[in-house]
Amino acid sequence: MTKFTLVQLTDTHLSGSRPFFQFNFEMVIEAMADIAPDHIVITGDLALNGPDDIADVAFAARQFDRLGAPWSAVPGNHDLGLVPFQGGLHQPITPERLAAYVDVMGSDRFVHEIGDWRLIGINSQLLGSGLPAEAEQHDWLAATLATDRPTALFLHYPVYLDDPADPARSHAVVLPDARAALLALIDAHPNVRLVASGHLHEDRRAQRNGVVYQWAPATSFMTSGGGHGGTACVGFLVHQFDGTAFTTQRHSARWMIAHDIASWGNTEPHGYYEIVKRPYPQAV
Ligand SMILES: [Fe+2]
Ligand SMILES: [Fe+2]
Repeated sequence: MTKFTLVQLTDTHLSGSRPFFQFNFEMVIEAMADIAPDHIVITGDLALNGPDDIADVAFAARQFDRLGAPWSAVPGNHDLGLVPFQGGLHQPITPERLAAYVDVMGSDRFVHEIGDWRLIGINSQLLGSGLPAEAEQHDWLAATLATDRPTALFLHYPVYLDDPADPARSHAVVLPDARAALLALIDAHPNVRLVASGHLHEDRRAQRNGVVYQWAPATSFMTSGGGHGGTACVGFLVHQFDGTAFTTQRHSARWMIAHDIASWGNTEPHGYYEIVKRPYPQAV
């Protein structure tokens, strides 16, 4: 097989107890029946509130089994937390949260070969954490990138916004020191052609040293005025591979709802995080 179709879903934000975004996921399932991808990658924020309720991650995994194609996933900040620093986000990544995620999902990374390509997924939440798992993942990635195959790398956080050398610490992208180490690895392996991410709920394509850095729109919601420089929308990406070449197209399944998180709790900077923690009305 030299041609194959890979769908990239991201930021599904699924939850069995607070199913705000389940309808859009149902529309994605219908779309997969038409597209019939050879493989699906989900680039994190699988769950609504995985750091506090790992049942959300388990629920998301059961939903992915309904997609009708083999799938691979990596975690995001709403699955196992993030590197804490100023900004007030309250869910740090810890060894316990990482262990809970791996217990449910089997792994926080993947390598998969299809057609001529090697697909690699890594846990971006570790980057800059200083946890032992960060160094272990770095060594694994260095070994896994050593291939003659064209390679696509998937992770939740975009590697950078506009300037790869931007020294600002931001919750939007990989932290500067970890970013430099990751970019050095990518630069040392010229077979890397595509670096695909989620997290910002925006669609954008950039290039650096001949590598495409692709942001994917979320299936769950968008943030109008999100301000990261991409297109805020709801949808997913279809990557078509042919030999060593690939194209990427944005799709939005018919009837997907463009939930706009800018209208959720907008009197507080992190109103969304408070809303998703509250009990959801259950049928009685
Ligand atoms: Fe997200
Ligand atoms: Fe995220």
